[in-house]
Amino acid sequence: MKIAIAADHGGFKLKEALKKYYAASNMIDLGTYSADSVDYPDYAHKMVQTILHKEADLGILICGTGVGISIAANRYKGIRAALLYSDEVARLAKAHNDANIIVFGGRTMSVDDVIKRIDIFLHTSYENGRHQQRLNKIEETE
Ligand code: RB5
Repeated sequence: MKIAIAADHGGFKLKEALKKYYAASNMIDLGTYSADSVDYPDYAHKMVQTILHKEADLGILICGTGVGISIAANRYKGIRAALLYSDEVARLAKAHNDANIIVFGGRTMSVDDVIKRIDIFLHTSYENGRHQQRLNKIEETE
């Protein structure tokens, strides 16, 4: 599975820690590349283009809280960005929502918690069935 990662300055440190931990998987790093202040919608946009053009199978987005960059990413048709604020939400965001971008807060979550949630998400299957009819309804109203 090809994974892309992007963050604003609020998520830069966490992005670097995740890149180090997943070094073997060669994540596509879409920036930012320093702790200098940037605007999170620019990184949401880069990630969305990468996912919609199928250059990656899954995106990881990070800002300070995960909230702003989630809002920005979810403005685009075909994007299901989920803020994984607990282990159970990490499981359900795959099982029920088939999220194509998972989101974290660089200032609100620990590296260990985030790694655990990524692991849970990657080891969960989408349940399809009644959940697909709900995702279809989202697509129809976009
Ligand atoms: C940037 O200071 C901060 O607002 C951003 O990282 C994020 O938390 C927005 O939701």
